[in-house]
Amino acid sequence: MTGGKFTDLFPLSVYRAGVGLEESLRRRLTEIILTDEQRKPTPVDEETAWLGDASGHEFLFEVPEFGPLFEKIAASVKCYVAGLGIRPERLNFYFQRSWATVSRQGQRIFEHAHVQSHISFAYYLQKPGDGGGIYFSIAEHPNELAEGLFTLQKSEDGILSPAGALRGINRCYLEPEQDEIIIFPSKTLHSTAPNMTTMPRVSISADVVLTLRDSGGHETLMPPVERWKRF
Ligand SMILES: [Fe+2]
Repeated sequence: MTGGKFTDLFPLSVYRAGVGLEESLRRRLTEIILTDEQRKPTPVDEETAWLGDASGHEFLFEVPEFGPLFEKIAASVKCYVAGLGIRPERLNFYFQRSWATVSRQGQRIFEHAHVQSHISFAYYLQKPGDGGGIYFSIAEHPNELAEGLFTLQKSEDGILSPAGALRGINRCYLEPEQDEIIIFPSKTLHSTAPNMTTMPRVSISADVVLTLRDSGGHETLMPPVERWKRF
């Protein structure tokens, strides 16, 4: 009898790209965010990062200094969409909201998803080496034969072999670099590791909504916003 082999179905594809923001602009934008943070700290708890959207800064794309960054990000989002096998020229893209997060030493962002949009991203404006990466999680892994089997704890307990960690683990870690963007479906559960350094980790996030350019004959996907009727 010969060994069988697996065909892996339905992968989650997370897109990574260097954005190439000019260094002086990257420093200037970092300063702007850190000034916003100091002006209005978010009073949650010591472990939680500062969230710009919860502090009245949820439309960063309207801030003129951020214009060149959002142009570069828009290009990355279209590359991501094209890479997934979707034709960007058939869609309209909208930044729906955008905000910064600041994670100081020991701070993190707990698990959540952005259920009101289609595409989300994190762009790392300032990212120290040990500044804390990003975790992606899945609530019901298709290979998880019994609930709780494919967890980090079961891996640490030795119940999972390296193959189990590869095919079934329900939380994966990525370590982004400064000036890198990570793009993913908004519905994906994600969280961050704590910043282990004294330099603040500063990231920019946004939620992106897609509509069809021409919705004639389509039952699914959003029609163009210009055709909606507000009441
Ligand atoms: Fe998020």
